[in-house]
Amino acid sequence: MRRKIAAGNWKMNGTGAALSELDALAQALPPNPPSVVICPPAPLLYRACEVVAGKGIDIGAQDCHMQSSGAHTGDISAAMIADTGAIYTIVGHSERRAAHEETNAMVRDKAKAAWAAGLTPILCIGEALEDREADNTLNIIGGQLAGSLPSDVSAENTVIAYEPIWAIGTGKVPTLAQIIEVHDFIRERLIARFGQDIGNAIPLLYGGSVKPDNAATIFKAENVDGALVGGASLKAGDFAPIIAALAAC
Ligand code: 13P
Repeated sequence: MRRKIAAGNWKMNGTGAALSELDALAQALPPNPPSVVICPPAPLLYRACEVVAGKGIDIGAQDCHMQSSGAHTGDISAAMIADTGAIYTIVGHSERRAAHEETNAMVRDKAKAAWAAGLTPILCIGEALEDREADNTLNIIGGQLAGSLPSDVSAENTVIAYEPIWAIGTGKVPTLAQIIEVHDFIRERLIARFGQDIGNAIPLLYGGSVKPDNAATIFKAENVDGALVGGASLKAGDFAPIIAALAAC
């Protein structure tokens, strides 16, 4: 049985007032909930950790620097994130790959930096619309996996999120068959590279326009172990039913 994870990426949304959503979410968790992770903006990490302490919600960052310290104005190291009480960090989100020109090699180094600080990276991969339309999705995904996943992965220290770029924030969701095809492919690649035990145990999340009304369908896929949710994670009233759908499957 793989770990199920419902992760929320708040992106650049929310100030201190948004922390009340964490309290509301804690109160709305179903019995036997999956792992629940919220990744708020960095200035809220410490306070978010205080709010959720002992309430069944973990906190993660949205990015970390690959170096442990130094002259990197505006950047945040993995150790600084861990110091807030957060235990996860997203790395390689497509918005950072695009807007900050993050390469597979940089994402790989960020994952290693996260491990060195005791954080679990949620490592994102996903194809652009032109890749999908050119029938090149699996090539792109295979290349991103090979290039951005370090070799000393374990089932406990890494989570992978498949987020097709064209599905992020658009309301467009791949068909269940398309999600199954990519997730099964990722699972095969993980097993081929890391062996059955590790390859079978790494949690794979789907991300891209996951909403309360489509979550249960997406979670039917055998190799979908949870979701990385953007917009619908901002309000407890939207995220709680997604978590409940994961708990029920
Ligand atoms: P949406 O759920 O808003 O499409 O965002 C997905 C995402 O990018 C999560 O990291």
